[in-house]
Amino acid sequence: MISRRMFIRGVLGCGFGALSVGAYGRLLEPRWVEINNVQVKINRLPKQFDGVTIAQLSDIHHGKYVPREFIRRCVRKVNALCPDIVVLTGDYVYRSRAYLLPVAEELSELKAKEGVFAVLGNHDDKDRTFHALSKAGIRVLINEHVPLYRKNDYLFIAGVDDLWNGRVDFCRTLKGTDNKPKLLLAHNPDIFEMTKAREFDFLMAGHTHGGQVSVPFYGPPMVYSRYGYTAGLFRKGNTAMYVNKGIGISGLPVRFCARPEITLFTLRSEKSDDAQHQNHC
Ligand SMILES: [Fe+2]
Repeated sequence: MISRRMFIRGVLGCGFGALSVGAYGRLLEPRWVEINNVQVKINRLPKQFDGVTIAQLSDIHHGKYVPREFIRRCVRKVNALCPDIVVLTGDYVYRSRAYLLPVAEELSELKAKEGVFAVLGNHDDKDRTFHALSKAGIRVLINEHVPLYRKNDYLFIAGVDDLWNGRVDFCRTLKGTDNKPKLLLAHNPDIFEMTKAREFDFLMAGHTHGGQVSVPFYGPPMVYSRYGYTAGLFRKGNTAMYVNKGIGISGLPVRFCARPEITLFTLRSEKSDDAQHQNHC
């Protein structure tokens, strides 16, 4: 039989446990950024691009629960990685347009030798976000591409409109490209299901926040992907996709077992010798 003292101890223990988990998910994990280094093999990558590095930031959601100071710290972390390219995969604010100019100002501090490129997400006002990011020196890609040159060779970096909030147009995005490798930026990872074989080589997406709240040994109860693309690297034929967990939060102001993420990709040709390539500032 349980004594009165044991019962009170049990209740207090459970209460303390719940409070600790709540404090962790509310105060600690949302600011505990992980940096993931991911190597991606690309079939026909020109040798000039072997070892090129791309840093990805996604789902910043500047707002009441994602302060400007935290975004500044994340931008510094990205700059410290000395990436060749930076990509931003949408959702810059949460709920209010008042946060757009401050987040754009912070993002204007991003440094990348070969450019900063962005697409828009389902939380972004198309015109205002396009102008704010463009003014910050960021190339916003909405159903279009740009070539990236290194010496006498090149590849393409493309971006599509948001699946929920815009109109995805692959024909327009690809018009004028040839058989050189194509990197694609998209906010929503379900775009992966819409790409055809050999159209794109590597897709970088966000949107899901890795579920934002994940139950140990079970996973996230809710993921905003019809196809279960929660987070990480996926492959379909010759195309790879990476789903970044983002650095911000939306809905519930917590993260649990889904830490905010900055990703640093290193692209490799199929024949590359990993040991030869080091990224130096
Ligand atoms: Fe988001």
